[in-house]
Amino acid sequence: MLKRKDYTAVFDASPDAMLVVDADGIVRDLNRQAVAMFGWSRDELEGTEVERLVPVASRGRHRQHRRRYGEAPEPRPMGEGLELEALRKDGTTIPVEISLSPSQLGPDREHVICAIRDISAWKRMRRLSGMMIAAAEQERKHLSRELHDEFLQNLVALKIRVKLLADEKDDRERENARARIADDIRGTILGVKRMIRGLLPPELDRGGLSSALGSVFRDIEDVYGFTVHASMGRVGGELDEVATLALYRIVQEAVSNAVRHAGVNEATVIFESSNGTVTATIRDEGCGFELPHADRLPGDACVGLAGMRERAALVGGKVVVQTSPGGGTMVRASVPAQSASGQLG
Ligand SMILES: Nc1ncnc2c1ncn2[C@@H]1O[C@H](COP(=O)(O)OP(=O)(O)O)[C@@H](O)[C@H]1O
Ligand SMILES: [Mg+2]
Repeated sequence: MLKRKDYTAVFDASPDAMLVVDADGIVRDLNRQAVAMFGWSRDELEGTEVERLVPVASRGRHRQHRRRYGEAPEPRPMGEGLELEALRKDGTTIPVEISLSPSQLGPDREHVICAIRDISAWKRMRRLSGMMIAAAEQERKHLSRELHDEFLQNLVALKIRVKLLADEKDDRERENARARIADDIRGTILGVKRMIRGLLPPELDRGGLSSALGSVFRDIEDVYGFTVHASMGRVGGELDEVATLALYRIVQEAVSNAVRHAGVNEATVIFESSNGTVTATIRDEGCGFELPHADRLPGDACVGLAGMRERAALVGGKVVVQTSPGGGTMVRASVPAQSASGQLG
């Protein structure tokens, strides 16, 4: 048989915050998670009305619902279909899911056990996956536009020029036109190669990280006249496949942000390795920006920054961004050389 103190241990072991509330809505007991979640001490909460934990605007409604529940109590989630929020001592709110179970705890009184789950991480993930889907959609649109505007148009023009070539009577003119067509075909092939490189990093397994990034940086120089001063040393060999891909994508995004947003024409990329961690630092001396607050959900405009953080987190690493308006931007990504999630596929 479990003793009373064992029940307290069970109560405290719950990953959810738990409250025992009596028929008058007074908090009679709470577990350790509840203290951590709400920021009130046990003494402050015990004996107070449970509405203290409800945002002010919803308190009246909460009281009514609570009374109605008391008339026909049954185990069920609270406010099904609604987005519930709990109020903390510091005035901030957190999204929660709450389940209610009536229980005859005292000798003569009905109590309700409330299990309260903080779902902010889950909501953030859901929001993020929505953003990722939107970003993938956006990327597809961008690709189809690029395929149409650049390659399809070029090919159509080339087809017409080849046709015209046959009608050209003047040998020299024909030879010149032929050479120009050959040049344009070469240019189009380079463009397609560049595009493929942007999509897949094909050299990652063959030439390794520094060679793959080297070609990304060369393309950026060719297309945008933007110089990346890279110091990659011998870093890369010790990275496993997953960590390599994460760093490749993070550096690619950070550099492309510098190209597109910083308003300068150069950036530096430095790789360092120590104690099994590889760090890539991407720095530009451009316009910088106001960093969204760390615990705020990233806005739709920050898919790139959020994606960098997610990629690093997935392999057990992290990304730190330092920037301020007018003060340039530094992105530093550190990942364990042997990522926690092992090999791809
Ligand atoms: N290196 C940078 N210099 C200046 N502004 C930047 C830089 N990197 C990011 N930003 C700002 O942060 C915003 C969010 O970046 P990001 O999440 O990558 O989204 P996107 O590049 O699609 O706009 C950018 O729109 C830009 O305003
Ligand atoms: Mg970006």
